[in-house]
Parts: sequence; C-alpha cells; structure tokens
Amino acid sequence: MKVLLIGSGGREHALAWKIVQSPLVSKLYCAPGNAGIGLLAERLPFAVHEEEAILHWLAENPVELVVIGPEGPLVSGLGDRLRQQGLTVFAPTQAASAIEGSKVFMKDLCARHGVPTATYQVFQEAEPALAYLRAHGAPVVVKASGLAAGKGVIVCQTLAEAEEAIHQMMVARTFGSAGNQVVIESCLRGEELSFLALVDGEQIVALAGSQDHKAVGEGDSGANTGGMGAYSPAPVLTPALEQRILDAVMYPIVRGMAAEGIPYRGVLYAGLMIDGDAIQVLEFNARFGDPETQPLLMRMRSDLVPLLLACANGSLRGMQIEWDARPALCVCMVAGGYPGSYDKGAVIHGLEQAVAQEDLQIFHAGTEQLGDHVVTAGGRVLGVTALGESVAAAQQRAYMAVQAIQWDKVYYRRDIGYRAIAREQS
Ligand code: AMP
Ligand code: GLY
Repeated sequence: MKVLLIGSGGREHALAWKIVQSPLVSKLYCAPGNAGIGLLAERLPFAVHEEEAILHWLAENPVELVVIGPEGPLVSGLGDRLRQQGLTVFAPTQAASAIEGSKVFMKDLCARHGVPTATYQVFQEAEPALAYLRAHGAPVVVKASGLAAGKGVIVCQTLAEAEEAIHQMMVARTFGSAGNQVVIESCLRGEELSFLALVDGEQIVALAGSQDHKAVGEGDSGANTGGMGAYSPAPVLTPALEQRILDAVMYPIVRGMAAEGIPYRGVLYAGLMIDGDAIQVLEFNARFGDPETQPLLMRMRSDLVPLLLACANGSLRGMQIEWDARPALCVCMVAGGYPGSYDKGAVIHGLEQAVAQEDLQIFHAGTEQLGDHVVTAGGRVLGVTALGESVAAAQQRAYMAVQAIQWDKVYYRRDIGYRAIAREQS
C-alpha cells in the first residue's frame, strides 16, 4: 500500500523509518519531511498547514493510509477533511484533538470524568488572574490554553514570575490567541512519565513507558523545550502502576469521550506526574511524543502499520505489541540558542560515519539537504538514538555517535537518562 506521512520532525523520521519496514508498504510519501526522511520517502513540497495543496495532491495520487504526526494539523482539522474525501487517516478528529489544543477543554474533561489532575482555575482577563495569584501564592503553574509549541507552560517559583507569565500571555500576548484563556494550576511534585497508548475509540493498547527531559540544561535546569532527550522503558513504570494508569486515567478518558460523542482514535499521550502512589495528569497530547517516539519505535518489534490502520478503523481489539527488552535512549542535538533564537544553515559534519553502526539510528529533525551537504534547519536538529543492554550502555552508544557529529554552535545535554541510570545502578 501507499502511505502519506505529514510532518518534518524527529518523530516523523522515526515513524517513516518504522513504516517503510512494513511488508505492507510499497511506497511512502512525506510532506514536507526533512533530509533524513528524504532517504526513505518521496518528499512532497507542502508545509503541514498547506491543507489545500495536500488535499489536491491526494485527489490525484490516492494513498491507502495518511498518518498525521504533529499537533498543528490535528487541531486545525486536516484529518477530518481527509476523511471527508474517503481516505483512511491515522489522526484523532479535530474535536477529539482539543484534548491537546485546549488546556481548558482537557482540564474540564478530566474534572467531568474524575481523572486526577492539578486543581485549577481558568481566566479570560489579566486582572482577576493576577488577583487569584496574589491570593494563592507561589509556586504555581501558568498555562496558555491554546497550542504554543511547548512554550506556553510556565512553572513559576515566585509570585513575581507568575505575574510576569500572566503579563506575557494576557497583556503582551506573546502566544497570540493561545493566550485568550489561561489556566492557573497548583504546582505538582514527583517524577514525570510519558504514557502513550493506541486507541480506536474504545479499545486501548498501551505502548511501552518512556520519559523525556524537557529542560534545556543539565540536571533538568533552565527553560522548557520540546524535549532534549528521552528513553524507554521508564523505570518508574511498574506493571502495577501501568494498570492503575489505565484504570484511573486512560479508560475514564476514552470512555468519557466516547460517551460525550467525541470518540478518540489515534495515539493518546498522557503526560503524568508520579509521586509515590499518586498519579496526576499534567497534559494530554493527541499525537506521538517527540522525542519519546524515537526510542519507543526503536524498541517496537511489531509492524506499526497494522496498528495504525486498526486505530483508524476501530479494530484494535486483541492486538498486542511486541517490544525489544533492551532499553533505547535518544539524545537531541540542537542548534545553540534553542529554545530561544538560533541560526540555521550550518553544515553538519560526521553524519556518514555515525550512521553506519548497529543498534543506532540518527533521526533527523530540523535538517535540509543542500547539494551534497546536510544543513541545520530548525532548533532540534538530530535525535541520536541507540539500543543497549542497559540504559547506561544505550547512553554510551548514543553519545559515541553524538561526539562524532559536529556543526557550528551545536548543543546537547550530556546527562540524558541520568535518573534511569541511577536507578539501574542502585
Ligand atoms: P504541559 O505542556 O502541560 O505538560 O507542561 C509542560 C511541562 O511543564 C510538564 O512536562 C511539566 O514539566 C511542567 N508542568 C506542567 N504542569 C505542571 C504542574 N501542575 N506542576 C508541575 N509542573 C508542571
Ligand atoms: N516530548 C514532549 C512532547 O512531545 O510533547
């Protein structure tokens, strides 16, 4: 079958890598892709928001499956439009994607179905938000309700920081309409866990656990990014905890959405805070995590394509996923300055040597092919991902490759996986 993948990040390179391994797939297209994806798929010159162009191309070039990677086109309803053309699409509906696109929707949904999440208040105006903050005090978390590329959540240790966050979102409008509504919620402590599951409207098949490092700096310090690295499995996720997450979070949400007439079909990503026995939902995403998908798919032994089709067709019942028992770990190499401003167009050196290694994949994110060179074209540039007998071994293999790759102003954290390794060694 022919498949079209929408997106251009590290997640999409990992998806492309896995999709082309399927014996079911004869041809993969990707719009717009990146330099790495270009080695696996035929790239189409459409940005993810160029929905008319994508629809037009598909009318002339039918495919049997469309897979939408990033949140933007999910929330803007590209999946619905494609389904209206009779296509099979791996993507939740626009209505269901509000679980990521609107934090107000997500918090209210959790409240309606008894799913544990931090206590919260929603504000439309700055003044009442500031008054609430002054009464409530810090630490506190201020969130723009709409999509803000992972930057719309500010964990504030002081009241001054929280006031500044409200000012940015509601007065300076740094996040545009994403800041029309702001959620202020209590600050939770614990260990974060990314819990992803395939969902067909009713049935749930959990993926292996994973964890990412969101902060830009070592020791998880500094500004939040889309993710600086990730690994799977997550040592914090025991089988008993997995069952509790399914019972307390995933089934109530999936059944609740079905009962409300907005069934969820796709991959549902719960960002959780685990503190002893307590499970709290930090966020839901309507898509695969980036970079969690890179280590997850390196560990996935099963063919991904039948699973994606089953989500889209409502036939997940009885399906299981086989995993490589070995851990995988991904180190993101980014452009210096990210998540702030950064340069593009630097020539990346050392890729060829790094690629030719067993149990190692260099997933491209922001890259472009320029003649014979691969150049940087985004904040997150590469996700160097390795399997190993232990997290420590996977980490060592990944960093060996990282050290062989260079460009002007490259940056990466040198401690990805430190928590998992400390557990492994204790
Ligand atoms: P979100 O996009 O809502 O997951 O937020 C991004 C990151 O902010 C999370 O991965 C956490 O690190 C942090 N965060 C979000 N909400 C809270 C909270 N209520 N308490 C503590 N940290 C939070
Ligand atoms: N790595 C976090 C995310 O995909 O949202």
